[in-house]
Amino acid sequence: MEMLWDIAFADGVAYEFEAHDLAHRRASWRFDLRQGLAAPGGRRTNATLVRVRRERESMSEAGLRQDGSETRRVTLVTGASGGIGADLARIFARHSHDLALVARSRAKLEALADEIAASGRLRPVVLVFDLIERGAATHIAAALEAAGATPEILVNNAGFGLAGEAAGLDPAQQLAIVDLNIRAVVDITLCFLPAIRAARGKILNVASVAAYFPGGPGMAAYYASKSFILSFSLALSQELRLQGVTVSALCPGYTKTDFQARAGFGPNMDLARLPGSTAMEVAEAGYAGLIAGRREIVPGFLNKLGVSLLPFLPKALILAVISRLQ
Ligand SMILES: NC(=O)c1ccc[n+]([C@@H]2O[C@H](COP(=O)([O-])OP(=O)(O)OC[C@H]3O[C@@H](n4cnc5c(N)ncnc54)[C@H](OP(=O)(O)O)[C@@H]3O)[C@@H](O)[C@H]2O)c1
Repeated sequence: MEMLWDIAFADGVAYEFEAHDLAHRRASWRFDLRQGLAAPGGRRTNATLVRVRRERESMSEAGLRQDGSETRRVTLVTGASGGIGADLARIFARHSHDLALVARSRAKLEALADEIAASGRLRPVVLVFDLIERGAATHIAAALEAAGATPEILVNNAGFGLAGEAAGLDPAQQLAIVDLNIRAVVDITLCFLPAIRAARGKILNVASVAAYFPGGPGMAAYYASKSFILSFSLALSQELRLQGVTVSALCPGYTKTDFQARAGFGPNMDLARLPGSTAMEVAEAGYAGLIAGRREIVPGFLNKLGVSLLPFLPKALILAVISRLQ
């Protein structure tokens, strides 16, 4: 049995510790349950404590929970066949989360499920779906039920962008951005919200630093879609915070994945020459922020700095710079 401690406050700040964390980090984590909790990074909260401790039992080899129920409480990750989603799945697995993985590429999902199973974890449920298709959330729910699984954490990560001026890009492809980056996220979130609320679970929506810009000339539909995700996430985080559900928006900057190739970034595009983060760096920041209950997670110092300066710059200047970079 794996012990997890879960400490949550009324303002949505939450901390999750594995038992060994408590054993090994007692010196660096200071608990004062009346005055809040101070972490090494200096974050603290003085809000009312709403939940102190939860013991979670990991799944047995046979797939049965130790309390006798057969329900698998899973972290559902969309876009888990590569890039940030695959590394998020690896990190959740490392932290003893049981997983359900969604994408279109069956071979990649099966390979990741095998990799996770080989590390001694329960093999993730593999769900092959195209999230652009209407009704995908309902189909995923039915497949999860058939697998005896219910989500307690949802990671909406699948997404793509297209480089080029809106007038020159295929309208159907731009509508596909809206369908995947916006429609599917809302559909899946609303579909699984009752289960996540019942589990007092968590939602991680992968947006982008693009969400903070006034617009993204050269990637108009993509930037707009990510602004929607940030806005949607912040609103939900407020609506759900007293129900014990945290909602976080992960807003990475340029990250080296298959995203750039799919978006059609040319080798001469200035953005493609920036150093960028690795998918694992972004995923590590996303997991830590989710567990800490942060509303907005912007990985990387330069990205944080850029996002904090944006409100002070003229929109015309920002639009001109983005237009030059893309
Ligand atoms: N890379 C960056 O610079 C960057 C920066 C900021 C934000 N982001 C965001 O991070 C998220 C992950 O992107 P990434 O960089 O990891 O890109 P990626 O390597 O291209 O991964 C995208 C994932 O989404 C899945 N996907 C795409 N279309 C799908 C569909 N119709 N149905 C189901 N799954 C689909 C892909 O799997 P299949 O192809 O197998 O379906 C893949 O697993 C995206 O939301 C992206 O907008 C990326």
